[in-house]
Amino acid sequence: PSRVTLRTIRKKYELGEPLTMVTAYDYPSAVHVRQEREAPCRRIALKMPIQTRPRMSYIIIVEAAGIDICLVGDSVAMVVHGHDTTLPIRLDEMLSHCQAVARGARRAFLVGDLPFGCYETDARDAVRSAVRMLKEGGMDAVKLEGGSPARVEAARAIVETGVAVMGHVGLTPQSVSVIGGFRPQAQVAEEALRVMDQAQALQRAGCFALVLECIPGPIAAAITRTVSVPTIGIGAGGECSGQVLVYHDLLGMMTHPHHAKVTPKFCKQYARVGDAIGAALQQYRREVEDRTFPGPRYSPYAISDREPGVEL
Ligand code: KIV
Ligand code: NA
Repeated sequence: PSRVTLRTIRKKYELGEPLTMVTAYDYPSAVHVRQEREAPCRRIALKMPIQTRPRMSYIIIVEAAGIDICLVGDSVAMVVHGHDTTLPIRLDEMLSHCQAVARGARRAFLVGDLPFGCYETDARDAVRSAVRMLKEGGMDAVKLEGGSPARVEAARAIVETGVAVMGHVGLTPQSVSVIGGFRPQAQVAEEALRVMDQAQALQRAGCFALVLECIPGPIAAAITRTVSVPTIGIGAGGECSGQVLVYHDLLGMMTHPHHAKVTPKFCKQYARVGDAIGAALQQYRREVEDRTFPGPRYSPYAISDREPGVEL
């Protein structure tokens, strides 16, 4: 399957086609992310003159689009490790998640979040961490938060090293300590102007795309119009160049009403996977307790004269 590259992303952006991004933190979710959609490429294929139509199976593998960009987000700290913020996750832990995702993803463009504490001190530190995300983590690019002059310098240094950088402005969860909670940003004019300036500075530093998190739709739309790189929105309205959601949030992993980790307001739940998991585990427990599992159906090994251990 042909991989999504910066050129693919650029082309979609120039054609005005929405970019899709989702987080993933491990091998099975990355495999799911890579699942191809079949319908659109069928449509494309049928528009082609019959003699130039590639075989359908070929089209489905090569042309079909799954999710464009897969983000190994530091949100892993919250949705997988159970922390209350993204701050505790370390670079070596991020690298382990990146490696697992890289083993599962075949097609998506892979972006790894630089975690809190591994890029703020100086640009050399930032470059060192970014290089590890590619060399050890198997990522195609990194993402860093914030648009202060120091962050813009870090982004520039990383890009100059040869590592593509995605910016991230608006609500930047790694700054929760100074923001004072996960709250929407840029709701007053002064703050909105600052976020717009930051977005432009990051673009000038060479960022190939910008995440806009939790800002009013009109501000995100204005940024999208004024920068010449794609904007990827989350809680930022419908006029960004693309959208991103957190895997566990969009799947509805945390569906128990009393659970402390709530799905954010801007997140649409496309499934209630948590309910399905809970029901399956309960049924398993019941069947073990009343001895209906494994039963004859799942007790495949008989005593026989066959050579042991030939197949499962
Ligand atoms: O870590 C993350 O999941 C993110 C996205 C919300 C953009 O940074
Ligand atoms: Na993040």
